[in-house]
Amino acid sequence: MPTPNPLLSKVNWIESGDIRPYVFVRPENQIAHPGTRHKLDWFSHTPIYKDPLDISELNFADRIYSIEERAFGPSNMAMPRWVFYDCAVMPGFVAGFAARPSALKKEVRDVLDLKKFPASDSPVFKSTEPRAKSLLAKSLDEMDWVPLSLFIIIPTMHKGEWVAHNLCSVNSLLAKEHQFYGLGFLSKAFGLWYANVEQCSGMTQWGSPALKLHTHFGHLEVIGSYAPVHSHSKTITYRAQVNTRCWEQFFTREDDLAFLENYGPSELQIDPKNEQSMIDIQKKLELGEGPFYLNAMEIAAKNLDESLTIYKPKGY
Ligand SMILES: CC(C)(COP(=O)(O)OP(=O)(O)OC[C@H]1O[C@@H](n2cnc3c(N)ncnc32)[C@H](O)[C@@H]1OP(=O)(O)O)[C@@H](O)C(=O)NCCC(=O)NCCS
Repeated sequence: MPTPNPLLSKVNWIESGDIRPYVFVRPENQIAHPGTRHKLDWFSHTPIYKDPLDISELNFADRIYSIEERAFGPSNMAMPRWVFYDCAVMPGFVAGFAARPSALKKEVRDVLDLKKFPASDSPVFKSTEPRAKSLLAKSLDEMDWVPLSLFIIIPTMHKGEWVAHNLCSVNSLLAKEHQFYGLGFLSKAFGLWYANVEQCSGMTQWGSPALKLHTHFGHLEVIGSYAPVHSHSKTITYRAQVNTRCWEQFFTREDDLAFLENYGPSELQIDPKNEQSMIDIQKKLELGEGPFYLNAMEIAAKNLDESLTIYKPKGY
């Protein structure tokens, strides 16, 4: 018997077509030749297109927002509605996975049921004027597709570079046994693949589970280890040259030999519990002592609160 592909065995929810990638994009921002830069056969189903400027799709946006608000609310980083519109869907696009509601099991439907998470609790509704009757929330079964994740990506002034602005998955609201393994990771992978992204920058908080994902899209360079300009100073700012060879290692957990060949551990470490360690590395970056990198495999093997080794290119 051939050994099952570890990738497919862990993400079988992607196969049936009842859960598909979606692209929430205004027509002018459509990617001209999606999926042509990175050679990959992971996304075989035609994506679902939704237009954020079409008000008949308002309920799709509300449901993206509802997941985001509940996932980021506890860390006080839920995205104001105007940020989503002005800074995300106008300059960039939102990608993710969406499901046919009838294909979802009860535990997932419950989490997506806006009646159980009443509108009055959500800034989605709180922050807006009363809506016209025709725009009121649709029930799950009135939706054709319901979003399960979101990845917002915005192009920058620097050709080829995009900023990963937000990543979120319904898994963070579900008990482990009901999760869609790899949903957050594949949402970002799909967005990068679809938009032919060459270089991806981003921001996340030290100690966040998201770092386990972000380090797997290409060798991750730390361009800022402390960000007092941000509302959360303990933020890492990174960039990576997108490299699909790193992607499969997220699932296989095989060593990244190319990383180990090119980068070696330094004596420097970041402790997610120690702000000073972030400030110290930030100062070194500002003095030109970088570049500094993180090792995806080390992060995959560690608990979220453990110190992380700073890697440097060999020969530096
Ligand atoms: C972070 C987030 C996007 C990850 O997406 P996800 O769909 O849960 O994760 P995936 O299924 O793609 O990947 C699973 C892997 O992620 C890591 N992971 C996810 N949640 C984790 C957690 N709470 N603790 C530790 N590791 C975690 C693990 O490596 C896990 O693999 P493993 O179980 O084999 O160890 C999601 O949990 C989320 O939306 N969190 C709230 C919002 C947020 O913090 N976003 C990131 C901002 S940059």
